[in-house]
Amino acid sequence: MTRLPLILAALALLCGCTFQGTGIAPFNPAPAPVSERDLEVPFVPTPPEVVEAMLDLAQLGTDDLLIDLGSGDGRIPIAAARRGARALGVDIDSSRVSQAVLNARMAQLETRALFRTQDLFQTPIRDASVVAIYLMPEINLRLRPRLLTELRPGARVVSHAFDMGDWRADAHEVVDGRNIYLWVVPAEVAGSWTLTDPDGSVMTLDLDQRFQEVSGTLSGGGQTLALGDVTLRGTQLRFIAGGRTWWALVDGGTMTPDPAGGTQPAWRAQRNS
Ligand SMILES: C[S@@+](CC[C@H](N)C(=O)[O-])C[C@H]1O[C@@H](n2cnc3c(N)ncnc32)[C@H](O)[C@@H]1O
Repeated sequence: MTRLPLILAALALLCGCTFQGTGIAPFNPAPAPVSERDLEVPFVPTPPEVVEAMLDLAQLGTDDLLIDLGSGDGRIPIAAARRGARALGVDIDSSRVSQAVLNARMAQLETRALFRTQDLFQTPIRDASVVAIYLMPEINLRLRPRLLTELRPGARVVSHAFDMGDWRADAHEVVDGRNIYLWVVPAEVAGSWTLTDPDGSVMTLDLDQRFQEVSGTLSGGGQTLALGDVTLRGTQLRFIAGGRTWWALVDGGTMTPDPAGGTQPAWRAQRNS
C-alpha cells in the first residue's frame, strides 16, 4: 500500500492549506514543539465522511470508550463524543493536543472528548472498547501485539488506510477511495477443552488458533470429528460438529451456550490446564 497520499497531504498541510466543511477550526500552522521530522507519522487529517464511516464500521455506541492513538486535531474523538460515546485522543505533538482541546471546547464536547500529550506506545489502552488509528503500516504492526493482548476480547480496532499484516480484517470498506478496516479482538481459545453435554456425555474440544482463524476437532464416544465452518468474532465462537451447530460464548477458561444461537442444550466447556 503506498504512503504517497499521506505524504502529499502532509505536504499540503505544511504549505498552510486548511480543510473545509469539518466544523472544526483549521490546523494552526504555527511551529510545533515536535518537528515533523521527529514524528514517525506526520499529521494528516482523516476527512469527515471517512471519520463517520470508521465510527459506523466500529458500530460505536453510547457505552463505548474510544481511544484515538495519534489524534491530531481531535476530529475522531470529537465525532465519537458527538455520538454520545466517551473518547480520549493522545498525540505526541502538544500543539495538536492544544488544537484538539480547543476544537472539543468549540463543539461543547470537552467533557466527553479528552486529550492528552503522550506517546501512543506509552498509552494504556485496556479500558478502550474501540481503538482508532491512522498511522503507518509498520506502526500498526508494532502496535498489534498490544491490541491483541491488552484490549478485551470483543473490543474493536478501526484503521484508516493501513491494515495489520496477516491479522486479517473482519471488515473492510472503501470510502471516497480510502480504505478503512475493522478488527474485532478475538478471545483466546487455543488449547484443549472438556465439553460436558447435559445428557452427561463428555467430549474433548481441541482448538488451534491464529488470530480469529480457528480449526480443531471434537472427540468423544470413540469418534473424532473435524470442526466445520468455524468462526470466532470477539467472544463468540461458532462451529459445526456432529450435525450440530455449536454457538459458544468464551469467558476466559469457560465456554457456555451463546444466546445468539437460539435455544441450545445447557452444555459447558472448561479449558484443560
Ligand atoms: C495521520 S495523523 C492522524 C490524525 C487523526 N487520527 C486523524 O485521523 O485525523 C497521525 C497523528 O499521529 C501523531 N503521532 C505520530 N507519532 C506519534 C506517537 N508516537 N504517539 C502519539 N502520536 C503520534 C501525529 O502527531 C499525528 O497527529
